[in-house]
Amino acid sequence: MKISPTAVSLFTFLANTLVSSFTVPTPLSSLTTGRASSSSTELFTRKPFISGNWKLNPSTKEKAIELAQDIGSSVGKDIDYDVALFVPFPFIESVMEQVGDKLSVGAEMCTPEMAGAFTGGISPVMLKSIDVQWVLAGHSERRTINKETDGYINAQCVKILEEGMNVMLCIGETDAEFEKDLVGCVCEMQLKKGLSGVSAEDMSRVVIAYEPVWAIGTGKVATPEIAQKVHVIIREILVKMYGRDIAYDTRILYGGSVTDESIDGLMAQPDIDGVLVGGASLLPDKFGRIINYQLDETFVKELQEVDV
Ligand code: PGA
Repeated sequence: MKISPTAVSLFTFLANTLVSSFTVPTPLSSLTTGRASSSSTELFTRKPFISGNWKLNPSTKEKAIELAQDIGSSVGKDIDYDVALFVPFPFIESVMEQVGDKLSVGAEMCTPEMAGAFTGGISPVMLKSIDVQWVLAGHSERRTINKETDGYINAQCVKILEEGMNVMLCIGETDAEFEKDLVGCVCEMQLKKGLSGVSAEDMSRVVIAYEPVWAIGTGKVATPEIAQKVHVIIREILVKMYGRDIAYDTRILYGGSVTDESIDGLMAQPDIDGVLVGGASLLPDKFGRIINYQLDETFVKELQEVDV
């Protein structure tokens, strides 16, 4: 996806505003949370996680099978991190059949109710019964289009975890919140409400996806530096909620216009543990490159030097 020069300058402006407006509670230099830090042995507990969100695509089961085959062929045997596809309900089982154990197939949402008069509902227990391991909760499109509240999203998270599945909780600020410098507050509120009642023990089955709404489907990917800063803020919020060990073990993914061109820079950031990809996950070549991201030599050297 090419970004127009106008979009780039608009984005650069937004990016600079964001960077200059953050008040990061702990100096960035003193944080050693990342996978790249050579001063912490904790960093290797966070396995990278590359995921795709197909949303309301593709249009038929046949196309879904073809897409799954193409994407599956990009997942080599040497990939030792997590790869997952969140796909529409009608395709889940067919996609699972295609990809086997190469990657996980998840659901894009569920309803928290377990049974009864909820026409159109899909319960966590139904998903569990077809071996779904991962469920998305709180995607911004569900928050805005389907009016899902933090309370409803929290009920989903709790039920997904109760059924023994894993949840990817999406958080992130809107354009207007971004412009009012509310990034930290919005993330804190969404995390506290979304994870209310989720125990420290269950946090090993929770992944956070930071997806600034202004970057979703717009071509305006946050720069790696901006995303890194927000991820540090999110990790600090998790420290307050669950303590240092759990916060440092929790994977925080970035989502919003990720492409094959931006992936390497994002993954080189110490607190970006993976990505949630929308549009580009429908393009097998591009998503294949995203799955097989490359770290630059300096970063790899730092990783190798870590004494584990
Ligand atoms: P995008 O979508 O990559 O198309 O911006 C990301 C998402 O909505 O998860």
